[in-house]
Amino acid sequence: MLFERARRVFPGGVNSPARALKHLPTPLVAKGASGPYLYTDRGRLVDYCLAFGAVILGHAHPRVKKAVEEQLERGWIYALLTEQEVEFAERIKRHMPSLEKMRIVNTGTEATMNAIRLARGFTKRDVLIKFDGNFHGSHDYVLVKAGSGAATWGVPTSAGIPQDVVKLTVVVPYNDTDAFTKAVREVGDRLAAVIVEPVAGNYGLIIPDLEFLKALREETERVGALLIFDEVITGFRLGLSGAQGRFGIRPDLTTLGKVIGGGFPIGIFGGRADVMDLVAPSGPVYNAGTYNAHPVSVAAGLAVLAELETGEPYRMADEAAQRLAKAVEDAAGRTGFDVVVKQIASMFQFYFKKGDVKTPQDVRESDERLYLKLHEIALRHGVYLAPSQYEVNFTSAAHTREVVEQTTAALEEAFKELKREVGR
Ligand SMILES: Cc1ncc(COP(=O)(O)O)c(C=O)c1O
Repeated sequence: MLFERARRVFPGGVNSPARALKHLPTPLVAKGASGPYLYTDRGRLVDYCLAFGAVILGHAHPRVKKAVEEQLERGWIYALLTEQEVEFAERIKRHMPSLEKMRIVNTGTEATMNAIRLARGFTKRDVLIKFDGNFHGSHDYVLVKAGSGAATWGVPTSAGIPQDVVKLTVVVPYNDTDAFTKAVREVGDRLAAVIVEPVAGNYGLIIPDLEFLKALREETERVGALLIFDEVITGFRLGLSGAQGRFGIRPDLTTLGKVIGGGFPIGIFGGRADVMDLVAPSGPVYNAGTYNAHPVSVAAGLAVLAELETGEPYRMADEAAQRLAKAVEDAAGRTGFDVVVKQIASMFQFYFKKGDVKTPQDVRESDERLYLKLHEIALRHGVYLAPSQYEVNFTSAAHTREVVEQTTAALEEAFKELKREVGR
């Protein structure tokens, strides 16, 4: 069996923990993908994971495919400056003016690692504030109380990170303005930067209060630290201007990834020109990469951008998420489950609990067991939901009304089956 072979060559049989699906005996095996669908060893599934948010136009979108094919014809790696990457950056800057200058790397992990190094280089300070349950990739500075796969697998603070590094990362409860201002007071003039997911998409979905985001901006400014918005998920998903445009807050530095690579590896860190000018070769903060601004990723990114600029993909994807949020609420209501549903733009998640979800603690208080059970049942009905309570569901422009209606019917059945299984 493939999983047996996989286990002999990969730790846990996978190449990233979130692919292991702890509630299933074996991981899903992908064979192909097109539009809203994944083709797997469990058959055709409507995909609401969408490569953890990397896909917004739908799988194998023809425009992206064409752009990539055209790039392949011209060769696919030069490790030199190209006109396309300049245009790409100019277009990004037009939509997100806070990125006065940027560096294009390969992953979100690299983007946040470099943004943090840069903030430390600029401020000549060491301490970083991050938030409980936020996930910024898998490097040492941020693997402290992290969300996503780290939370799912119960290793929010990774082994192997030196205590001296952990000590420099102060963790504060997400969406708790008082705790944050208190922490800033305590850290004082040692604070280099605050890094935050402006909408948290790695601990389920947590939509923060505007007051919290404003406090981040005001307090960092007051103490001379930099504010880093990690928009690896929200960038170009919550609209062309990301979370920063939506909430009207201008961070000093921003990290991007996922959507803007059209499903190819990408990461970007950028922001204030006076800060970015410290990056090598114009300054002393080092970043380099053989694959930086990879021509294929840039070509895919430009194609995605061209589609997104029409506005139509957002209209489709956002409407799908709204309908599905309502569908979950209705199905839960009819079967007597207390469920909280959160949705913003093309992201949604639901929690088996009463009350509301505004903090990571609220997520922890939800019934993860029911979520995973429902996930498993939905899979049998051809729907691949976010594979953990700590992940988020995404929709794409390919999730048409018809697809959403089929999912709605499947979820209706799934909730009924859940009720029968858990004996309510
Ligand atoms: C908010 C956020 N930042 C950073 C990352 C890391 O990005 P990558 O997986 O491309 O390294 C992720 C990945 O899920 C993310 O959600």
